[in-house]
Amino acid sequence: MLHVSHRANSVLASPIRKFLPMVLDAEKKGIHVYKINVGDPDIFVPKEFWRGLKMYKEKTIGYAPSTGIREHTEAWVKYYKRIGIKLEPKNIIPTVGCAEAILLAMMAVADPGDEVIVFEPMYTSYKGFASMSNITLVPITLKIENNFSLPDESEIVKKITKRTKAIIVINPNNPTGSILSKKEMDMIVRIAVKHNLYIIADEAYREIVFSQKPTTFLSYINAKENIIVLDSISKKFSCPGTRIGSVASFNEDFMRAILKFAMVRLSAPTLEQYGAIPLLLNAPRLTKEVTKEYKKRRDIVYKGLKKIPGVFCTEPKGALYIIAKLPIANAEGLVEFLLKKFSYKNKTVLVTPAEDFYITKGLGRNEIRIAYVLNTKALKDAMDILQRGIRNFLM
Ligand SMILES: Cc1ncc(COP(=O)(O)O)c(C=O)c1O
Repeated sequence: MLHVSHRANSVLASPIRKFLPMVLDAEKKGIHVYKINVGDPDIFVPKEFWRGLKMYKEKTIGYAPSTGIREHTEAWVKYYKRIGIKLEPKNIIPTVGCAEAILLAMMAVADPGDEVIVFEPMYTSYKGFASMSNITLVPITLKIENNFSLPDESEIVKKITKRTKAIIVINPNNPTGSILSKKEMDMIVRIAVKHNLYIIADEAYREIVFSQKPTTFLSYINAKENIIVLDSISKKFSCPGTRIGSVASFNEDFMRAILKFAMVRLSAPTLEQYGAIPLLLNAPRLTKEVTKEYKKRRDIVYKGLKKIPGVFCTEPKGALYIIAKLPIANAEGLVEFLLKKFSYKNKTVLVTPAEDFYITKGLGRNEIRIAYVLNTKALKDAMDILQRGIRNFLM
């Protein structure tokens, strides 16, 4: 009998996709399912993307250079310049989404058996990539009651061992919607410099912040060598299917390592690199529009959740997600109930149980994550249906 690797067995099935068969069954019965479970926005890609595609004049679609198409990489450089970061093209490499940037960055800084400190709950792909690369994630648990703020410096330092290579931060955060304060960013940088660690900062949602200016760890010039920033056009320009992200660092050894990996995987998508050029060049205007829309949606979801008796959540400050603690022991049971046994006016709602966003077993069972990826009218209806669904579940 043939076996797949332990590595393959250790990767969890996507928590987001496992309810798909139940969704299909509900839809077969004529029930409309509001899907607020994945960060796949319904917002149209800005028309600038199509303009960018037209810049492609070749008759063949060849590989792009591993370092990125020159104009595309330069567009990233200009984009960063506008937020005050002076990169050279050698400091940034386009990737196949931020997802690939995560894998390449982790593999460039850590060997099998090495450790990376993370804050849970966290974006689940990190867990999968850690399993694929035999890197151990060492979690520090953040609490919803504390607004998911970071613990004291000593609590983080306690987790550092001889095998620790990096600290991963997601800012703004998926799944919590929290953002790091300046004090927290300063603390992470201080720890990394003192203990000779990399900071892998996933800033895929950088501009989607509701009451402050976008920030980046790249601004810490005193920690230039330690900082690696991962980026994406998926969310800020509403085009996750384009699969364009980037990895940036002033650390030349690190960038050389990334370039070697980038050559192994050949290139990021050719046409989409063109499409992304005008998006990156018009980022301030385009991201302002999209953030305004997410703020409206955030308000609807947050208010909707606050109205549900027994539900606890705090106001998200960025990204497009919120975590809510339910008066229910097992959120997975609720999700199954909503899909299999409940509907209101032939409609129901799909949310994500938060358990899989945690590494520590048993945490997050009574929490759900909502992605506010539907228009305001649909979201209002979805929140009403969620409230009714929870009430029915508890009856
Ligand atoms: C925190 C975070 N990083 C990375 C990604 C992956 O982004 P991309 O579509 O650019 O691969 C996501 C997608 O949801 C995310 O939430």
